[in-house]
Amino acid sequence: MANRTTTRCVIAVIAELPGACLADPSQNALKPGGPAAAQISSLWWYLFWVAASVFAITMGILVVGVLRKPRSDSDGHSGSGHTFVAISGIAIPAVILFVTLLVSLRATVALRVPPSNLTVQVQGHQWWWGVHYPRENITTANEIYIPAGQPVRLELTSADVAHSFWVPSLNGKMDLIPGHPNVFWIAADKPGTYRGQCAEYCGTQHAKMAFLVIALPPEDFRAWVARMKAPRPQTSNAVLAQGQQVFFKAACKDCHAVEGTKANGRKGPDLTHVGSRLTLGAGTLQNTPGALEGWVSDSQSAKPGNQMPRSYLPPDDLHALRAWLESLN
Ligand code: CUA
Repeated sequence: MANRTTTRCVIAVIAELPGACLADPSQNALKPGGPAAAQISSLWWYLFWVAASVFAITMGILVVGVLRKPRSDSDGHSGSGHTFVAISGIAIPAVILFVTLLVSLRATVALRVPPSNLTVQVQGHQWWWGVHYPRENITTANEIYIPAGQPVRLELTSADVAHSFWVPSLNGKMDLIPGHPNVFWIAADKPGTYRGQCAEYCGTQHAKMAFLVIALPPEDFRAWVARMKAPRPQTSNAVLAQGQQVFFKAACKDCHAVEGTKANGRKGPDLTHVGSRLTLGAGTLQNTPGALEGWVSDSQSAKPGNQMPRSYLPPDDLHALRAWLESLN
């Protein structure tokens, strides 16, 4: 089994499939986690084995041709060379291409957007992902929670330039284009975390435009929805109250929204539940207290060129602001 995995990894590296052999198995087009990715993966393996077989047989015939003793004129000529060219050069390739066409069409039909009970709107930004659940009225960023075992309909748009939505373990790619919503879907067979990545060059920090799809058992997903919609508890603690004041004084509110407060900026990611996010800066850093404080203080050193300026806050204010952001979960 280990050998088979290694072989597949080597093949995947040759095929330049990013993420195919990472330690984290959640971003791998050849390790499908849902029905759409399974279709794409089977098509990939079909094409791989057909191409590999054709290549091996062609090279074999070439070697035989090179090594064989040339015919002398006295051998006579039966005309079998023409038959060989007609069969192996025209008939067999035509059959292979026709079967490939059928296999591709079958995959295309299977990848059509299925009916779904859940719609998620995803908006690409330089360089993060806005996530909105219209029916549930939940807004978040850089993380998409879905129930496992059912298809989720996606509406993809962009606020600025073209981006591309790609969760290799769950489906292929789909562009996010300003002013032109694209409908797409993902589905995960089992609960788990799947990494996604912008797959269309969109500026300096294209590489740091990642996101996570977190598939939960359906009852946990319902609990997540309820938690997202629960009213925010009042801030009682003095440090947290100071942190909230700093958030407003330092103009964070102009770009970020926090549900239940007066902060309603939309230029940057919604921070209503930032404390519960797994990463910061669209997959740039793990969301730890230290990283959060560093990010707020100077996100430019972790992700140069992003839209958030340095904060230049006194240490006391910075700690309080970090504590308040952490409490938003
Ligand atoms: Cu967004 Cu590349």
